[in-house]
Amino acid sequence: MPYAFSALRDAPIGLFDSGLGGTTVLSKLAKLLPHENILYFGDTARLPYGDKTPAQILEYSAAILKWMASQGVKMVLMGCNTSSALAYPYLNSLPAFNFPIFDIIRPFAQNLASGKKTIGVFATPASVKSDMHKKMIQYYHPNIEVLTVSCPEWVSIIENGEIEKAETAFQVKKYVEPIIEQGAEALVYGCTHYPLLGHIFRQAIPDYLSHIEMIDPADFLIQKAMQYLSDHDLLRQNIESLGKTQFYVTGDTQLFSDNMQRIWGNRQHVEHASLLFTEKLKIV
Ligand code: DGL
Repeated sequence: MPYAFSALRDAPIGLFDSGLGGTTVLSKLAKLLPHENILYFGDTARLPYGDKTPAQILEYSAAILKWMASQGVKMVLMGCNTSSALAYPYLNSLPAFNFPIFDIIRPFAQNLASGKKTIGVFATPASVKSDMHKKMIQYYHPNIEVLTVSCPEWVSIIENGEIEKAETAFQVKKYVEPIIEQGAEALVYGCTHYPLLGHIFRQAIPDYLSHIEMIDPADFLIQKAMQYLSDHDLLRQNIESLGKTQFYVTGDTQLFSDNMQRIWGNRQHVEHASLLFTEKLKIV
């Protein structure tokens, strides 16, 4: 086997988000592909992405992909709906990157079961403004009615360690109840931070959740990534050793490590990374 090819199998899978949200993708990815090396990148210095302009989101996402390229990744997963909505269509069309890039919206929209007639999608203000979840779902399933809801407070609640505050249940109910009253039969976590509120959803609206399906687009993204790696013979072969996950953030490393401890119950070593914003990277 040529050396370069076997080295590529050991290369990490890059996964990024603005902050903690992508760790909900990571936890599922690491369970399904325990032998893979993963590079997690959180752009915590610039979060939340949800209140940024399309040009900013594109610029940040492009810089993260450049950083990923410098680390020699074998694939990049966008663990961020906001980047997927606003930056993916452009970045994926550039010949600049020699690894596949998968976003979190398209695999979900494409593989969603067609039976659901009305679904509610909770997402960041920037994602909702782009209308990308609705456009993609209806591109593949024109008969599904999509109700999108902008939830501007939820990312800060999670990043500020306020998930367990009493006020959070109110913040969840305030957006979820009207959507259920409008007839949603399934609810979609249209931002990777939101599954971290899953237990609040269940506490806040127990009667509804018994007959309403919760959908996490991360499940579809991971299936897509697994299929690609398998089809291209790129799965790591060394199955005697577990893969390693390395964490990089652009903001406070201690804060991110503390948040990981609080949310996932394990302390991680977190490194600082800087993004380079040169004139060349300013592509808009
Ligand atoms: N977790 C991200 C998403 O899926 C971004 C949240 C934010 O920074 O606003 O959209």
